[in-house]
Amino acid sequence: MIEILPSNSGVGAEVRGVDLGNGVDDVSFAEIRDAWHEHLVLLFREQTIDDKSLVDLGRHFGTLEQSPRSEVSGEFGGYEPSMPEVTIISNIEVNGQPIGSLGAGEADWHADMTFTERPPSACILYALELPTSGGNTMFTSMYRAYETLAPELKQRIEGRYAIHDFSMTSAGDLRKGMQKVTDVRETPGAHQPLVITHPETGRRALLLGRRRNSYIIGLPVPDSEALLDELWAHACGGEYFELVWQLGDLVIWDNRCLMHRRDPFDGTQRRLLHRTQVVGEIPA
Ligand code: SIN
Repeated sequence: MIEILPSNSGVGAEVRGVDLGNGVDDVSFAEIRDAWHEHLVLLFREQTIDDKSLVDLGRHFGTLEQSPRSEVSGEFGGYEPSMPEVTIISNIEVNGQPIGSLGAGEADWHADMTFTERPPSACILYALELPTSGGNTMFTSMYRAYETLAPELKQRIEGRYAIHDFSMTSAGDLRKGMQKVTDVRETPGAHQPLVITHPETGRRALLLGRRRNSYIIGLPVPDSEALLDELWAHACGGEYFELVWQLGDLVIWDNRCLMHRRDPFDGTQRRLLHRTQVVGEIPA
């Protein structure tokens, strides 16, 4: 019996009664998918799941994406060599080299990989090692952000596109081989519509991706900066679901209609999560 317990923060629900490590049948998956569309981020506690089961779970949602190869400096590359669909999120270093992405600092509000032409639809993250405190992850709805936007702002952004920066990670590090952006009109990364229609729910959502080095195409830079600041303040100023991680937690979020951020934590402690993500549609 699957139980869905909605959070009291507008998005997010805990799902009980599912052992993801044992595989998910079609009937259970249909229930999970409906709950995911309704609550946008689902939390499954006390899971024991290996990389193969993580990848199998991801494949229920679609074709899996390989993690970006330029995220992590050094020899490890930030992914599991035997399973390149599994990205490592970690501050752990081996021989002075990071094994994964994002370190121990804060990760700003962002949606994953919107700098690619087809950003992920579903993202799945599983906690293997955690610090004693910190590193909480927050999720906020981009449906809410769009639906509560002032009509005048809705009008100003209708039909406009923004650049989503590929040069820096959400933790503020320059990616391997990239140069610091000096003119936001030249920012490398995909051009995405500011407002999208979710391909499965039909609801409209803001698509902001990441603030750093963003630029609204066709506007003078100061006007773009001012409009982006206004949109970001609105989008990140609403209610959010805060995940205080426990070992064995697994979350599945809809990257098309949520942004997330992560608190910093004590870098002398280890934090290790495995992530897999599903190739999404071209945002429209
Ligand atoms: C992410 O921003 O994709 C990772 C979030 C986390 O480390 O909790």
